[in-house]
Amino acid sequence: MTTAVDERPDIIDVDDRVREGSTSQIQDMPAYREHWSRGEADPSGYWLAQTKQRVHWRKAPTQGLEGDCWSVCDGPITWFADGELNVTESCLDRQLAKRGDKVAIVWEGDEPGDVRELTYKELHAEVCRCANALRELGLKKGERAIIYMGMVPEAAVAMLACARLGAVHSVVFGGFSAEALRDRVRDCGASVVITQDVGKRGSKNIPLKATTDQALEGEAGVEAVLVYQRDASVEVAMKAGRDHWWHETVSPASAECEAVVCKAEDPLFVLYTSGSTGRPKGLVHTCGGYLTWTAYTHAVTFDLREDDVYACVADIGWITGHSYIVYGPLCNGATSLMFESVPTYPDVDRYWDMVARHKITIFYTAPTAIRVLAAQGPGPVRKHDLSSLRVLGTVGEPIDPVAWRWYYEVVGQERCAVVDTWWQTETGGHCITPIAPATPEKPGSATLPMPGIMPVLVNEHGRPMVGPGEGRLCIAHPWPGMARTVWGDHARYVMTYFTTFPGFYFTGDGCRRDADGYYWITGRVDDVLNVSGHRMGTAEFEAALIAIDELAEAAVVGYPHAVKGQGVHAYVVAQPGVEADDALTAKAHEAVRGSIGAHARIDRLQYVPGLPKTRSGKCMRRILRKIAEGEPDKLGDVSTLADPSVVDAIIEGAKSFG
Ligand code: WTA
Repeated sequence: MTTAVDERPDIIDVDDRVREGSTSQIQDMPAYREHWSRGEADPSGYWLAQTKQRVHWRKAPTQGLEGDCWSVCDGPITWFADGELNVTESCLDRQLAKRGDKVAIVWEGDEPGDVRELTYKELHAEVCRCANALRELGLKKGERAIIYMGMVPEAAVAMLACARLGAVHSVVFGGFSAEALRDRVRDCGASVVITQDVGKRGSKNIPLKATTDQALEGEAGVEAVLVYQRDASVEVAMKAGRDHWWHETVSPASAECEAVVCKAEDPLFVLYTSGSTGRPKGLVHTCGGYLTWTAYTHAVTFDLREDDVYACVADIGWITGHSYIVYGPLCNGATSLMFESVPTYPDVDRYWDMVARHKITIFYTAPTAIRVLAAQGPGPVRKHDLSSLRVLGTVGEPIDPVAWRWYYEVVGQERCAVVDTWWQTETGGHCITPIAPATPEKPGSATLPMPGIMPVLVNEHGRPMVGPGEGRLCIAHPWPGMARTVWGDHARYVMTYFTTFPGFYFTGDGCRRDADGYYWITGRVDDVLNVSGHRMGTAEFEAALIAIDELAEAAVVGYPHAVKGQGVHAYVVAQPGVEADDALTAKAHEAVRGSIGAHARIDRLQYVPGLPKTRSGKCMRRILRKIAEGEPDKLGDVSTLADPSVVDAIIEGAKSFG
C-alpha cells in the first residue's frame, strides 16, 4: 500500500529522551553519520570491530567480508570466515556471570496473567537438556530439525538447542497446513521434528501434533518427533518408536551440554519465505554474520538499556520472531517477552494491559495490529498505565501516517520514539529504520539506512537514481546479516536477488526517496502479497486453486485493504459446463487453506469467463490488479489482448465487491 504522504510531512524530534545506560553507540545524528560513513568506507573493519564487541567468539575472526554482489554468482559471500563460535554461548553461557538471575524470557500465555519467567540460568539449563535429548534422538551437527510450535518458551529452547549442537533449525509457522509442513520437511531433508500437542490462540486449540502426523505420513526421513505437552487435558496420538514426550525426554536430561563449535559461515537456520514465483524458498542464515547483525540492530534501533523489558509480539515462525524475540535480544542479555495470544483476546486492550503489568519499555508490533486497535478509539489504551514505554516499533508492512500518529500520540503519549523498521527475511535484520532516539522521524517513513546498508533506487531502465525520486529498492553492498543462499539451490538465490539489477541485491520493494534522503517504502513491486504483514506468493494461491478439477485457470492479485494492508482478490475460470456455485466456492477456500494454511484467505473470489491474455497467451496481471484496485478506467493499453471483451465482463463482475 502506498502511504498517503503530505508533501511536507512534519519532522518529529522527541526531545525528552533520556540517553543514559544505552548499549547503542548511536545516540544522535552526528554519531549516526559517523558510524554510517565508517561502515561505508571500511565495511570489514567496521563489522569486525562490532562483532568482537557484541558476539562471543571461540576463535575471533580476522577476516571481514569476502565477495560482493557480482561474486555471489560463483558462490556465497562470507563474513568473518575464519572465526569460530557457537551462537548459544553468546546468548546464554556468557550471560551467566552477570545476568544469571536476570529474566531472559517472560512468557505471557493465552490467558491474561498466565505468566512464566525463565532466568538466563534456567534458560541455559533447559537448552542444554533439550540439546542432550535431541542428540540422544540422533540429531547431529549440520542436520536439520523442523520446529512446528506455538508461542511457548520451549520453541525458543528448541531453536537454541539445535544451535547448541550445530544442527540447523527450520521453524514453520504454526498456521501452516500439513501440506506446507510436508513440503518444508522434504525440502530441507529434516530428520527430526519438534512440535507440541496443541497451540493456544484466543482460547482455541491449534492441533499442531495432529497436523504433524498428517504431514509426516509416509515420510521415512523423519526419525524422531519431540512433542511438548502444552495441555495435558488434550489427548494426542503418539507413534511408538518415533514420538517422544518433551517431559519424558528433555526434562530428565543433563543440564550440561558442551556447545559444538561452528564456523562463522555454518548454517544456523533455514527459514522458508514466499517469492513471486514457485514454491517458498528456504533462505539460509549463518552463525557469525546473522548474530552480529541481529545483536547490533536490536541494540541500536531500540536504544537498548540493561533494565529494559522488551516485547516483540510477532510469532517465532517468522523472521521477526527469530531475530527480535530470540537471537538479538538474548545475545544482548535483554529480557524478552513472548506472547502466546492475539491482540484482541480476551479483549481489545490486551496489549496495553500487558504493557502495564510487565512494565514493558520497548514494544514492537505490526501496522495491521495498530490499525485494528486504533479502530477501537483511545478508550482501551487509556484504561492502562503506559508510562513505562520508551520506544515503539513497527515491522512487516508500510505504516500509513494516520496509524503512525495514533501509535505515537495515543500509545506513546507523544513521549516515545516510533521506529518503523524496514527489512525482510532475506536481510536478517533491520536495514532502513529510525534509530531511537537519534533519528528525527517523519510519520510513514522508514527514514534512513542502518550503518552498513547502502540503498540504491533503480529506475525502470535499471539505472541507479541520484537524489529524490521513486524506484525499485536495491542494496549495493553485502552486510553481515544477509541470507547467504537458498537451501539446496544457490542458482535460485542468484536468479531471484542478483540478476534483475546486476551488481545489486534487489529487494522486490518499491520505494521513494525524498529531498532529505528519507526512504518511503511503497510496497512490493513483484507478485508477493503482504496481508496483515504475512508474506504470501500469488503463485501459491494459484497453484492451490488450479489443483481443483472444476477450475480451469486462476489469477490472484492484491488490492489495498484498510485494515490488512492488502486483501486477496482471486479471479477464477470454471471448467466448461461446471456451475460456479457455493459448493465450488467453499471448495476453493478449502483448497487454499489446505495447501497453504489458515492464515491464507481469499477475500474476494470472482468467477470470470476468461483471463485477459495477450495473443501469445500471457496473462496481463496489470489489468487484473487495476480492476481489483477499483481503477478499471486506468487499464492502459489493452490492444494486445486476444479477446478484449473479457475485460468488460471482469469489470462488470468486480462491481459486486464495491
Ligand atoms: C514488507 C518481515 C514497509 C516489505 C520483516 C518487505 C515493510 C516484506 C516494512 C518482507 C516496513 C517489512 N515498511 N514495508 N517497515 N517491513 N515490509 O520477509 O514489502 O516477512 O519486502 O520480513 O515486508 O517481509 P518478511
